[in-house]
Amino acid sequence: MASAQPAIRVNGVSHQFGEPGEARYVQALLDTSLDVTRGELLCLIGPSGCGKSTLLGIMGGLFAPTTGAVAVAGKPVRGPMPRDLAFVFQESALFPWNTVRENVMLGMTFQGVAKAERGARARRALEAVGLIDFAEHYPGQLSGGMRQRAALARALSLETDILLMDEPFGALDEQTRMVLGEDLSVLLSRSNKTIVFVTHSLGEAVFLADRVAVFSARPGTIKQIIVVDEPHPRKPSFMTAPKFHALRDQLYGLLHDEIRKAMSETTQPRRRYGQTGPAETDGERV
Ligand SMILES: Nc1ncnc2c1ncn2[C@@H]1O[C@H](COP(=O)(O)OP(=O)(O)O)[C@@H](O)[C@H]1O
Ligand SMILES: [Mg+2]
Repeated sequence: MASAQPAIRVNGVSHQFGEPGEARYVQALLDTSLDVTRGELLCLIGPSGCGKSTLLGIMGGLFAPTTGAVAVAGKPVRGPMPRDLAFVFQESALFPWNTVRENVMLGMTFQGVAKAERGARARRALEAVGLIDFAEHYPGQLSGGMRQRAALARALSLETDILLMDEPFGALDEQTRMVLGEDLSVLLSRSNKTIVFVTHSLGEAVFLADRVAVFSARPGTIKQIIVVDEPHPRKPSFMTAPKFHALRDQLYGLLHDEIRKAMSETTQPRRRYGQTGPAETDGERV
């Protein structure tokens, strides 16, 4: 059935940076498979360095996996697909010398949106994120939360079915990120966008996600998927519900051991590739 086709299918993806023997060699992802359902918000959560950003980049065609394949709406991903997917990163990277509206317009220019359409699309996107009254402001005149709204508007104006968001609220204070989370949940309830959202916040994951994919320590692979069965738009009262706390505790339990593993790996001397004896220190660095 066509409607059952996932928005994104990740099939047996492994990824390494560098070659075995090189100092920069890292096995970032190992045999990861995952279907992102149309219209869902899927959170990726896991220890720092487990390959979440790598997987997001591979989903969006920013680079090819070492092995395995990704398909978006049934089409194999062979490079960036700006008509299908838009990115939002932690650092919003707005041009400081351009207004909010100009920044949104530039995003569309880069992605080849027809000139006649850009004005209306910018207006719709700025309205959706509540920034229409700030369209002629410069990024330096906005709070951090408003700058991330502007970055979200830039991504929304591309009118893709899929948004890939890499810790988009990660640099914001907790109150601001809670409000932006509520607004994103409203946006989700009004559209049928598919969102993959990387976060390191357990509360943010439970509040936003329809499903949370928990990663193991590097080399990252999906350890478990948790379902959050709660309709959007989600209200702040959800955060005090027993269900919310039970899910958050379950997530913490799953992550805890992986975080310990990730920490012991980064604090122990790295074993050289091919070395079979005890791990060595790097000489001068202990
Ligand atoms: N361009 C790169 N070159 C070499 N190593 C990289 C590169 N990008 C990421 N890595 C390494 O791959 C691993 C996974 O990184 P990343 O996907 O950014 O993790 P996460 O987003 O989960 O924190 C880390 O060890 C990181 O240092
Ligand atoms: Mg990352």
